[in-house]
Amino acid sequence: MADMKGKTLFISGGTRGIGKAIVYAFAKEGCNVAFTYASSADTATQIIADIESTYGVKCRAYKLDILEPTTYKDVYKEFDEDFDRLDYFISNAIISGRAVVGGFGPFMRLKPRGLNNIYTATVDAFVVGAQEAAKRMEKVGGGSIISMSSTGNLVYTPNYAGHGTNKAAVEAMVRYAAAELGEKNIRVNAVSGGPIDTDALKAFPNYEEVKAEVVRRSPLSRMGVPEDLTGACKFLCSNDSSWLTGQTIVVDGGTTFQ
Ligand SMILES: NC(=O)c1ccc[n+]([C@@H]2O[C@H](COP(=O)([O-])OP(=O)(O)OC[C@H]3O[C@@H](n4cnc5c(N)ncnc54)[C@H](OP(=O)(O)O)[C@@H]3O)[C@@H](O)[C@H]2O)c1
Repeated sequence: MADMKGKTLFISGGTRGIGKAIVYAFAKEGCNVAFTYASSADTATQIIADIESTYGVKCRAYKLDILEPTTYKDVYKEFDEDFDRLDYFISNAIISGRAVVGGFGPFMRLKPRGLNNIYTATVDAFVVGAQEAAKRMEKVGGGSIISMSSTGNLVYTPNYAGHGTNKAAVEAMVRYAAAELGEKNIRVNAVSGGPIDTDALKAFPNYEEVKAEVVRRSPLSRMGVPEDLTGACKFLCSNDSSWLTGQTIVVDGGTTFQ
């Protein structure tokens, strides 16, 4: 994707799993990359050194807590010190552990606090991150914004009601953003992944069961890996998708069809 050379991607949650795979995939295309981390400061430092020496692009990382979405504004100020343009924004980071208690579990155990935390981290964080991104993209004549989503909003996935409903909400927010940002030549889409083998999935109490079920359901007979989602993200940021906005691309190894 030659058109990515010299452009800049900003992605939340670039230290692990899908976010890390996207950081590497874009850097490989010659794109400068800014990413955020929550607790993995050392990992972020290692990734920066590796990306810059391997791909010769500029890479920086900033601390962000998506449970405090308005702090995105401060993170973008740091970004502005390091980069003079923003072309692509991907809202990828997700919370886990204590923050999702009451939001991650069977229906009868759901509690407003956990559910609200997931909304804050999924929808509010997308909104503030994308608003700040759009202000910068407007200055360079346009850009592409993506929210990571998951097929748990399409099919029943045990314990996933909190995340599934909020992914449905963020996909709706993507369409609203797309409708209003098109006039600035900014396209907004979602990439909805089937189950991918990452730390987030390992947090499922029935991880082994989920994995076996995915392999059984997929016509491709395997679990998803983070790199399976990078192609759709690159496509949505390239000129090859220049008339594509307000959509969700489902990348699920065929698991939601049957
Ligand atoms: N795994 C799946 O099956 C799957 C499938 C489809 C879509 N997705 C979506 O893809 C995205 C990435 O998922 P993943 O599985 O790659 O997740 P992951 O491996 O758990 O990584 C989560 C990332 O988010 C960051 N993070 C955690 N808590 C944060 C906080 N409070 N504030 C800011 N950042 C925080 C982490 O940073 P630190 O390392 O610093 O903690 C890390 O970079 C999510 O939106 C997820 O819903 C996942």
